Amino acid sequence: MAKLAINGGNKVIDKRIGIHLPVVDEDDVQAVADVVRSGVWGRGGIRLAADAAKEELAGRPLAAFEQAFAAFQGGKHVIGVSSGTAALYIGLKASGIGCGDEVIVPVSGFIGTATVCFNVNAIPILVDLDPETFNISPEAIEAAITDRTRAIIPVHLGGYPADMDRIMEIARRHNLIVIEDCAHAHGSQWRGQGMGTVGSMGEFSFQMSKTITSGDGGAIITNDTEFAELCLWNAGYSRPRDNVYHNPIMIFRMTQMQGALLGSQFGKFQAQREKKEANARILADGLREIGGITPIFGDPRVTRHGIWFLNFRYDKAHFGDVPLRRFLRAVQAEGAPISSFFVAPITRDVAFRELQFTHGCPVDCPKYGKTVDYTKGSFPVADRASDEEGMSIAQRSLLGSEDDMRLIVEAVRKVHDNISELRAAA
Ligand SMILES: Cc1ncc(COP(=O)(O)O)c(C=O)c1O
Repeated sequence: MAKLAINGGNKVIDKRIGIHLPVVDEDDVQAVADVVRSGVWGRGGIRLAADAAKEELAGRPLAAFEQAFAAFQGGKHVIGVSSGTAALYIGLKASGIGCGDEVIVPVSGFIGTATVCFNVNAIPILVDLDPETFNISPEAIEAAITDRTRAIIPVHLGGYPADMDRIMEIARRHNLIVIEDCAHAHGSQWRGQGMGTVGSMGEFSFQMSKTITSGDGGAIITNDTEFAELCLWNAGYSRPRDNVYHNPIMIFRMTQMQGALLGSQFGKFQAQREKKEANARILADGLREIGGITPIFGDPRVTRHGIWFLNFRYDKAHFGDVPLRRFLRAVQAEGAPISSFFVAPITRDVAFRELQFTHGCPVDCPKYGKTVDYTKGSFPVADRASDEEGMSIAQRSLLGSEDDMRLIVEAVRKVHDNISELRAAA
């Protein structure tokens, strides 16, 4: 008789593990209602939250969140803006990156991390992933550096920090700017430093699915006050002075309603983060014991975990050559919320390959003087991560109980122990 659920056996888990996100309560409703009643709906002011004690931002929820989040991440300034992509754009712009400059980004992830470079007329240079962490590979960064390279954008994929020791060492040696893409990494720390404060600056997203959300939104974090002021200005937080309108061309402002929601969500986030880290540890320990699955978790340099997705590497050889997709179907049939790797190489996106959004510029720009062909290039680690090795568990599932985590381990163990049944069915 078949034991595995995929072959008709009983399931290990017969409930949906995890919670619905975002968690909404009366605090959220009250926070937004208070702003609406106050009649002050915009952030206003050209001041940084840190300078706002007695100024026009005092007591306003957005400045309060900016200060609280800066303190939590261990950075000096946080500036709320309209999205994470806008924060990346502002960071590039304020860093003076522009025409003919190359910016190194990981090949797998959110397409906007690369395409935002086109918006400042810079060229994103895609590089492969590290085979252990599936974050950007320091070796690949080093190999991609040319006399045009100005910046690196490491993405802390799923919230797990990229190797910032090696990235910062490379950046220092080549005099490069490091813009940390922390869209997944609220709360994560590298050697006690909050993500976004290790490089030159960091960017966060508060889009609906992220670990702190206001529906949409983003933020810049930096320790450099002069740079923060430049970002504030580039975000459009400006006003006429001396009859001259001191605004850049684009506006990326955040509202007080978003600031209020972020403030009320931030309290819940901190408890959720602790729970996810504790549950990730139970899962990681349990899966390591089974063998054949390596959790991307546990580097002692990662001193605090802010998890959006927890990722794993699948070793097909350990599972009798059963392909990843088939293994995943079997654990899903047991009720375990494990899915295939949550990102893929962006070169597979036809819009990116064909550069449907650039209208020729900046890739054809004579000032750049080189040719870019995103249909070429070999990214074996990113391909393997996407097709053969990478598995992910979403944050909502990590907010289940400790016993739920043990059930997930049990489901994987069952498939592991009955792998011959899967092989025979294939
Ligand atoms: C790695 C990464 N960077 C940047 C962003 C941009 O965030 P937003 O959607 O707030 O623009 C995202 C969004 O998913 C992301 O995953």
